[in-house]
Amino acid sequence: METVSSLLGSISDVGRDGVRGGYSRPVFSTPELDLRNWFQEQAGRRGLDVETDRNGILWAWWDVDGRHDDDSRRGALVTGSHLDSVPGGGAFDGPLGVASALAAVDILKERGIQPQRALAVAVFPEEEGSRFGVACLGSRLLTGAIDADTARNLKDPNGTTFAEAARANGLDPEHLGRDGAALARIGDFIELHVEQGRGLIDLDAPIGVGSSIIGHGRWKLTITGQGNHAGTTLMEDRADPMVAAAQVILAIRKTAAAAPDARATVGRVQPIPGGTNVIASRVEMWIDVRHPDDATTASLVEAVHGKAQKAAAFEGCTATLAQESLSGTVNFDTELQRQLSAAVPGAPALPTGAGHDAGILAGHVPSGMLYVRNPTGISHSPEEHVEDDDANLGATALADALERLL
Ligand code: GLV
Ligand code: MN
Ligand code: MN
Repeated sequence: METVSSLLGSISDVGRDGVRGGYSRPVFSTPELDLRNWFQEQAGRRGLDVETDRNGILWAWWDVDGRHDDDSRRGALVTGSHLDSVPGGGAFDGPLGVASALAAVDILKERGIQPQRALAVAVFPEEEGSRFGVACLGSRLLTGAIDADTARNLKDPNGTTFAEAARANGLDPEHLGRDGAALARIGDFIELHVEQGRGLIDLDAPIGVGSSIIGHGRWKLTITGQGNHAGTTLMEDRADPMVAAAQVILAIRKTAAAAPDARATVGRVQPIPGGTNVIASRVEMWIDVRHPDDATTASLVEAVHGKAQKAAAFEGCTATLAQESLSGTVNFDTELQRQLSAAVPGAPALPTGAGHDAGILAGHVPSGMLYVRNPTGISHSPEEHVEDDDANLGATALADALERLL
């Protein structure tokens, strides 16, 4: 029987980022593949039957009466999370849910539970969208929330398509896409996750039950100007997209700050070609916008688009905006929330501004979340943290919830 911290300790060297700090574990990179192997090995040790489905989702099955067929797995109880990370991310976003699921299996075995309903631990690829741009790509493929052709053609920063990466990792790109049979096997889905803000600190509670995920989306803004020489081009002769980009970033903050509950972020900017003595010919930037009200998200994006066009025109440039992903606000299944609250008495209900595979699955199967307190209140950063005692409480809470639902 292993604790969450000993499980996480066994992967603490995988994917450390010496430049950014924290961990960089993009999907299908060496570290993420190492983690997938680690998961398969850990699942094997627990006697779980591991398979990779056609979208690259890992499933580790605790079957009823040793039956491995789809029939006996239909309507199963599924828990899990992801192993990929943002660039320079923390140790817990994703892996905490996977390690807690494995620890919960240990706890249930220790309790002598013999499931009369199949139980699976699932690991979803590319939850962060840090390589191919679309968050929750695995669960979107599974549910058909992204069209298979669109997914196949997604490109990473090196120009590798998702189809190519999938093929290189043993998947058939032609078989990517909605998988009704795999989806039918999920009766209920529970994702345990590190809390990514100050919610549980402020409530002075170690564990929370997810109530909702606010709507979120990503847009790519391309500002095109005139590439030129930094020394010979007079200031008045420039069409510099970097200057327009700077104006747009300030406008985004102003727009979001004026809308209660809105969040808007530019975390990634790419000048092309990107030389110290080169006026960029083009700037690409990615905008992350979130709001509990989907209509407000749409109007914020429209306002940002208008301001970007104005700022670009002022600098003699042009701007185009393309949506890369969008998920509306999700309210988790009320019955499952009730079951989770009953399993973890006193745990407060918590909305979140972070996206999760549970949010994508919620449109198709009853889904719910458990959060574990993060004493720093910081996430998507090396400072993200979970105390061992809270991690143990989380695994026990998950085991209690699974036992109720089994
Ligand atoms: C994922 O963690 C996201 O909310 O972007
Ligand atoms: Mn994340
Ligand atoms: Mn996550």
